[in-house]
Amino acid sequence: MANLQKRLPENVPGDFFVDSSCIDCDTCSQLAPSIFHDHGEQCSVHNQPQNDDEIRLALMALVACPTGSIGSTKKHDAQIGISAFPTLIADNVYFCGYTSESSFGGWSYLIVRSKEEGGNVLVDSPRFATHLVRRLRELGGVNTMLLTHRDDIADHALFRKEFGCNRVMHADDGAERIGVERVLTGVDEIPIDRHFLVIPTPGHTRGHVVYLYQSKFLFTGDHLAWSPARQTLTAFPSVAWYSWPLQTESMARLLDYEFQWVLPGHGDMHHDTPQKMRYHLQSCLAWMKTRR
Ligand SMILES: [Fe+2]
Repeated sequence: MANLQKRLPENVPGDFFVDSSCIDCDTCSQLAPSIFHDHGEQCSVHNQPQNDDEIRLALMALVACPTGSIGSTKKHDAQIGISAFPTLIADNVYFCGYTSESSFGGWSYLIVRSKEEGGNVLVDSPRFATHLVRRLRELGGVNTMLLTHRDDIADHALFRKEFGCNRVMHADDGAERIGVERVLTGVDEIPIDRHFLVIPTPGHTRGHVVYLYQSKFLFTGDHLAWSPARQTLTAFPSVAWYSWPLQTESMARLLDYEFQWVLPGHGDMHHDTPQKMRYHLQSCLAWMKTRR
């Protein structure tokens, strides 16, 4: 629960606020940019919600925040934010909300599929929150958990225990050590089922992978995201924990694939035509090469 006594001075006056426990993961500013923004080292409210739709967005940010740093001075129906997750992105792909502090607010995604199609998939781990777990069960449980890299595994073991899901992760990020059921190796693409492909993308971490679903949705972990400032795709050199040159090579290999959505763990998501996505990927690659 956010603490009014610790309300950041950067918040505009009014109902909603962010307190000093904010870790600057940007979940709120990405989910509700009309209300929250990153003012530097932390986030704050820059516009108070003006209508029911904006109040709903603010309550969703409150639920999604990994550190419980968002609060309100007026009483609201918390169910509005709670029941909004998982929230639809497109087709059968959802954002889970309920980010975890242990993965620094990394975003996780749910793909809802019939049993015949292989069942539901979680990409990276949300917080193991009671409301979310109940909703996941209502939606058919979790059959597979695809982990992009070691930073965003959060409550993977609890989800495995609850749903018996098979976890997938690369050996080079310690998959065996944490008991993952399907351990990936090498740098060649690997089919998971008829619709999912793993593409190893070492760089941010040694065993980082991205997952391509139906040649449309690319779940990019911390490899690739949209830059609102530069209005193109980008990577993050300051957190290339393993190797920036290797991450640049991994980025080049993504030019072999077609996709319309970039859905990252950290950073902004992006939707575009395959042609424009390719253009932005080339632009990202050219920029990465200048940062060696
Ligand atoms: Fe990471």
